Amino acid sequence: MSDEHLSRAGAHAPTSAEGSQSEAERQLERITAEVRESAAGARAFSVEQIQRAREVLARLYALRRARRLYPAEHPAVAQTARELYSVITAYHNEGVDVSLTFFEDEVLLGEQVLAEDSMLFDQLIRDMVSIGAASITFMRGMTLEEVVRFIPVIGARIEEVEQLEGGVATLAERARCPHIAISAVSVVRDDVAVEEGDARELAKATYTGTLELLRELERLIKANQSVNVSHVKNTARSLVDSVLRNRYAMLELSGLKSFDEYTFYHSVNVAILSVALGSKLTRDYRFLSALGVGAILHDIGKMSVDLSVLNKTGPLTSDEWTEMRRHPVRGAEIVALTSGIDRASIVCVLEHHMRYDLGGYPAREPARQQHIASRIVAVADAYDAMTSQRPYSAPRMQDEAMSVVARCAGTALDPGLVRQFIDMMGYYPPRSLVLLDTGETAVVVSPSATDRARPVVRIIAGPDGTVVAPVDLDLSRADQAGGRSVVRCLDPSGMNIDIAEFL
Ligand SMILES: [Fe+2]
Repeated sequence: MSDEHLSRAGAHAPTSAEGSQSEAERQLERITAEVRESAAGARAFSVEQIQRAREVLARLYALRRARRLYPAEHPAVAQTARELYSVITAYHNEGVDVSLTFFEDEVLLGEQVLAEDSMLFDQLIRDMVSIGAASITFMRGMTLEEVVRFIPVIGARIEEVEQLEGGVATLAERARCPHIAISAVSVVRDDVAVEEGDARELAKATYTGTLELLRELERLIKANQSVNVSHVKNTARSLVDSVLRNRYAMLELSGLKSFDEYTFYHSVNVAILSVALGSKLTRDYRFLSALGVGAILHDIGKMSVDLSVLNKTGPLTSDEWTEMRRHPVRGAEIVALTSGIDRASIVCVLEHHMRYDLGGYPAREPARQQHIASRIVAVADAYDAMTSQRPYSAPRMQDEAMSVVARCAGTALDPGLVRQFIDMMGYYPPRSLVLLDTGETAVVVSPSATDRARPVVRIIAGPDGTVVAPVDLDLSRADQAGGRSVVRCLDPSGMNIDIAEFL
């Protein structure tokens, strides 16, 4: 799914079989293959192998429990170790390593978010995160003895890890298992306590800075000049910093729109939403920075699409479609020519219009799944495009756009990421204008941590429409909500309301 797919689906969209691959596309395919090879455990798994991950997680959980209930030499411990060994060996016999990554509340097999398993094994995920194990890779060649030696790592207690210099990495080193790799949580920068006001100022400065970068990039590309890598990377870094410091101050700004500068604002919004969504999965600074760069640049290929096509209000002709659909490849070419850009960012630009169900464009031969960064950008892109006014379509209300995103889970979009996105945004995302069942009008300040349908709102008008002194209420808290609930999103433009005045 994409902005074009959503609004221009149908008659004029040629099939993915159009044309044969150009030399540039083949070169980008090579880059993509390299990125996939270099990412640990990034091998594409079959559906059957993904389903089987549940057994690995169950055995891992059983082994952790057994180790904590019984002494190390107890037969139950040895038995669960054998079971874990056997289920992992089945993958090895199929030629793949098993790499599990544990995020805040998500588990991944390779790059695949295991949406259902993440809910089933939430305790195991929390345990692994709490002992500092960001990922475990069981490599081919692993023996049963290695699994047995690794038991103290899998069953480690938090207190034990905390007291040990080097934490879980030291435990893993002591276990001496050449075919089992553990990576400790790679948080490069931690949350810095920032005053609410400072966070909002920082967020605004970051937004403006990213917007400036995009204007500059357009000037350079139109003048056939090269892109300044450090400017792009530094901008992405400030974006990651701002999101990590205060996700909601940034998310609130991601609702800013401009019709005249649609592509620029859209790119900034997609970058914020992508980094915010990515930061729910991992705090790995390098990954988030590469994701930020890819998201900022995702539509850079549109800068060379003819304006008459870009701004056309009517349906596109077949040729115009072909030109429009070249923008991911064109964009990836521009980015690939810029030395110093992380290759994952290039892949992100190339793949952002591909779909989770392997459709979309450019076509993939043979079929392969998008890189996880591309899947993140696809979710952010879909949401922001739908809520923006474009030359050929009116914007959707935020709640409607959220339900379209939810409906695309498993088809156009990665279901695990959609779930995280809805958790992050709530059904009524920050900056939405909403009608309450009392008839009052409110602006959404932030989603609630506990109830997607009951955000924190700022009431700005009474039931009769008269402006009232703003009051903030957390609708997920009965003592504050006073029985109020949200009915739906409202269109501020039709009501002469400038949301910025109330935030
Ligand atoms: Fe695009």
